[in-house]
Amino acid sequence: MADVPGIFLIEKEAFSNPAEKFDRRRIRYLIRRPGSIVMVAYRGGEVLGWVAALPRRRLRTRWGRIYAVAVHRSARGRGLGERLMRVAMRRLESLGVSYISLEVRTTNRAAIRLYRKLGFGEGRKIADYYGHGRDAVRMMRDGRT
Ligand SMILES: CC(C)(COP(=O)(O)OP(=O)(O)OC[C@H]1O[C@@H](n2cnc3c(N)ncnc32)[C@H](O)[C@@H]1OP(=O)(O)O)[C@@H](O)C(=O)NCCC(=O)NCCS
Repeated sequence: MADVPGIFLIEKEAFSNPAEKFDRRRIRYLIRRPGSIVMVAYRGGEVLGWVAALPRRRLRTRWGRIYAVAVHRSARGRGLGERLMRVAMRRLESLGVSYISLEVRTTNRAAIRLYRKLGFGEGRKIADYYGHGRDAVRMMRDGRT
């Protein structure tokens, strides 16, 4: 919980559209939610990035969702986003999850490339997911890292 303000700063800086960023209340909710995987990367005492994932279960099938990944602008392009994603994916796998899905804005080239690199494929487009005219694409991955 002590990291909520630091995580919020990363979100605030990363997204201008309120529908895309997590506010403090949603960050606290994600941290408290039973089973959630929330990890933070630090430099000194400063939050540099975070990732949030949730294992889910539908009937007897376990699957996972990546809810958020973001890295502070000053630390981008050095492998941190990829590391955070890989750690979250491994945690999900350790819980028996092989299918992982997420949504990303269709215009977010950096994130889409990151997810492709990690083996995610593009699924259906979801119109207006992040507000009017702001479409998302669902991406998913099946298999182990
Ligand atoms: C997406 C994000 C988390 C990537 O973090 P990062 O630490 O900069 O990424 P990495 O350095 O780990 O890069 C890993 C891969 O991502 C892709 N990537 C990262 N930045 C990119 C960019 N600016 N343009 C294109 N591809 C990019 C590349 O495939 C890269 O692998 P490569 O270096 O071998 O080409 C970061 O840009 C970010 O925080 N963006 C704002 C928040 C956001 O959009 N989150 C996703 C919401 S769904």
